[in-house]
Amino acid sequence: MPNNSSNFFDQPRNHSLIKLRVFEDTLKLALAIAGRISGLSEFGNSFCYIDLFAGQGKYSDGTLGSPIIALETCNRQIENSNNKLTKIDLILVEKDESNTIKLKENISDYIESDVNSKVSVEIISDEWELAIPKIKKKLSVSDWGFVFADPFSTELNISHFENAFKLFSDLKDYLILFNFQALRRLMGGDKVCQNIIEKCCGINIEDLDHSEKGFRKIQESIRNKLNFKKYATGVAITSSRKEKLLISDFFFLVLATSSFAVINGFLDTYEKIIIEIKQSQTQRSLPFEPDESNELLQKIITVLKEQSPISYEEMAMQLHNSFISWKRALQFLRYTIPNSKNINDALYRLYSEGKVRISASENLFYRRTKGKLKIVKTNSAARKIQIRYTG
Ligand SMILES: C[S@@+](CC[C@H](N)C(=O)[O-])C[C@H]1O[C@@H](n2cnc3c(N)ncnc32)[C@H](O)[C@@H]1O
Repeated sequence: MPNNSSNFFDQPRNHSLIKLRVFEDTLKLALAIAGRISGLSEFGNSFCYIDLFAGQGKYSDGTLGSPIIALETCNRQIENSNNKLTKIDLILVEKDESNTIKLKENISDYIESDVNSKVSVEIISDEWELAIPKIKKKLSVSDWGFVFADPFSTELNISHFENAFKLFSDLKDYLILFNFQALRRLMGGDKVCQNIIEKCCGINIEDLDHSEKGFRKIQESIRNKLNFKKYATGVAITSSRKEKLLISDFFFLVLATSSFAVINGFLDTYEKIIIEIKQSQTQRSLPFEPDESNELLQKIITVLKEQSPISYEEMAMQLHNSFISWKRALQFLRYTIPNSKNINDALYRLYSEGKVRISASENLFYRRTKGKLKIVKTNSAARKIQIRYTG
């Protein structure tokens, strides 16, 4: 992705489409969960979507960007017959004036003209930092929220981000894109480079010496800064050259949330994308390799050996908080992505081998008919399941 964008909005590169798909599915799920629960507070049941780096709303080739994807997703949620959200506010912040003009033009067709519409859109033409008072005010009267930060390169200031959002409750989710390669390019640089890295993600220049460590440190930094969040899960996304996706850990998409369901949906989408790419023409020559060491299973055993008995929620939290590599997922897939389906497969294996005992009522954990493990989808279900390692 270019550092600044004379041609960014012409046509999305393939990796940007991947980012947008993960973004759309995650927002959709967060809205659907919020929409199932009614009348949370005196404000009714309201949701606020904030796009800190909104862009133009649409690429010149017609592909939708995050602001219009978000608006369409919110409109669909409101129309859903099960929806209990009474109000959705979108705040779209874009600092470049010509981008803001295009955004206003592009989004106008998607905004409902009905004055009673439950979805409202506000476009702020400024640096997002200058919109913080307005953003905080809106978040403080919204039950739910979703904040998307999608800079080109290293423009995000993580301390400003912390300052804007650390006070907000558990029911808000944060999705942040880091350009990991842009950060790594600063390695070996002087104090100025260190300052850019520190400002963008709050880590030291030396922490980038090894990719996995660098990714983990960014994750840790976000978790500490948004310290009320249970998960700060990050998945690596590749880049593309001449429309071909590379096999690389280039960008880092971090989701901070307290919802087991949202994190699980985020990982499910990531897995779906990896499978589709494997099945596509370009990557077919690289079948998934059998992972003899079964990375996820090994991680589970390590957690269980150290902390048994442990609740499913606590164990999954630790697995979710580990770094997920694009490169390794393409190689081994399900042994690296800790969604409920893969955790359950691994646990079932341990259970069948008599290595774990699971205390949970049948309907929480087993499919009654086939004796197979059920996918655990909610915090409350995950909390009720205790796992004891008997190795
Ligand atoms: C990668 S683009 C966003 C693309 C958008 N999320 C999409 O999917 O279409 C980043 C945008 O952030 C804007 N930007 C950069 N720094 C900003 C800041 N401090 N506040 C607000 N917008 C900013 C840039 O002008 C650019 O349009």
